[in-house]
Amino acid sequence: MKPLRKAVFPVGGLGTRFLPATKAMPKEMLPIVDRPLIQYAVDEAIEAGIEQMIFVTGRGKSAIEDHFDIAYELESTMRARGKSLDILDQTRLKPGAVAYVRQQEPMGLGHAVWCARDIIGDEPFAIFLADELMIGQPGCMKAMVEAYNRTGGNIVCGYEVPASETDRYGIISPGAVDGALVEVLGLVEKPPLGTAKSNLMIPGRYILQPEVMRVLETQEKGAGGEIQLTDAMAQLIGRQPFHAYRFAGRRFDCGDKAGYIQANLALALVREDIGPQVRDFAVKLLAER
Ligand code: UTP
Repeated sequence: MKPLRKAVFPVGGLGTRFLPATKAMPKEMLPIVDRPLIQYAVDEAIEAGIEQMIFVTGRGKSAIEDHFDIAYELESTMRARGKSLDILDQTRLKPGAVAYVRQQEPMGLGHAVWCARDIIGDEPFAIFLADELMIGQPGCMKAMVEAYNRTGGNIVCGYEVPASETDRYGIISPGAVDGALVEVLGLVEKPPLGTAKSNLMIPGRYILQPEVMRVLETQEKGAGGEIQLTDAMAQLIGRQPFHAYRFAGRRFDCGDKAGYIQANLALALVREDIGPQVRDFAVKLLAER
C-alpha cells in the first residue's frame, strides 16, 4: 500500500454565496480570527503527515500563492522594526512542498481535481475543501489517515446532518459499520429530499486512489451542469475498498455566511488572548435583544 504524501486543495470555485466579499478575493483567504481558511486546511494536512500541497487555482486566486510565499518587503520591514517573524512561520511551506495548477474554467470539483492528475501520478492523494473547516483532536485528516493505514482504498469523511438538509450534499449509502468506519455502498450527489440512504454527508475531506483520475477523464457533467467528484468516486465502489470515516469533531461550512460567522465566534471564544473579551461582548449583545 502506497503511503499518502500528496494533497489537492481545489480553490478554483467562484464563491458566489459570499459575494461581494469574494469578487476579488478567494473565499479560502477569508480569515477565521487571524488565519485564512486555507491555512487551517494546510495545517490539518501537515498534521496528517502530508508532504506535498497541490493547489488547483483559477483567475483571481493569486493571494493564495502569495500567502504561502516569502514576503520580502514585509519581512525586512518587520526585521528593521525589531518585530518577531515567528507569526509568519506557519505560512512557510518546505521548499518543493508546493505546486500550483490552473483550472482555466470552473467546471466543477471533479474537473478541478482532474487538473492535478500529472502531479498526482500513480499515488493515493488527499483532497481538502478549505471552505469546510473541520475542528477536532486529532484533526480530521490525521484520523482518516489512521483509518486508511488499516483499510487502504478510498476513504471519505462522513458527517451527520439533519435529514432536512441531505439534498444539499453528497450523501453516503452505508453498509457495515465498524466503530467510526462505515462501508460505503453508494454515493449520491444532492439526492432529492426523502430519497437519501442516510444523513451522512461528505464534508470535503477525501483520501482517494489515483484510478479516480481515469474515471474523471471521461466523466459527463452531473448535478448543476458540473463535473462531479461524487459521481466519479461512486464508480470506484465495488472495484476498490471504499469507506467513510465518521468524524465526531465540529464542522463549519465557511462557504456559507452563517457558517462562517459561527466559526469565527466559536474559535474566538476559545482563544486565550481574545476569548474573554469576545465572550463578555457576546453576552451583553444577546442581553440587549
Ligand atoms: P462550492 O460548491 O462551494 O462552489 O465548491 P464555489 O464556487 O466554491 O462556491 P459557491 O457555491 O459559488 O458560493 C466546493 C469546492 O470545490 C472548489 C471550490 O473552490 C470549493 O473548495 N471548486 C468548485 C473548484 O475548485 N472548481 C470548480 O470548478 C468548482
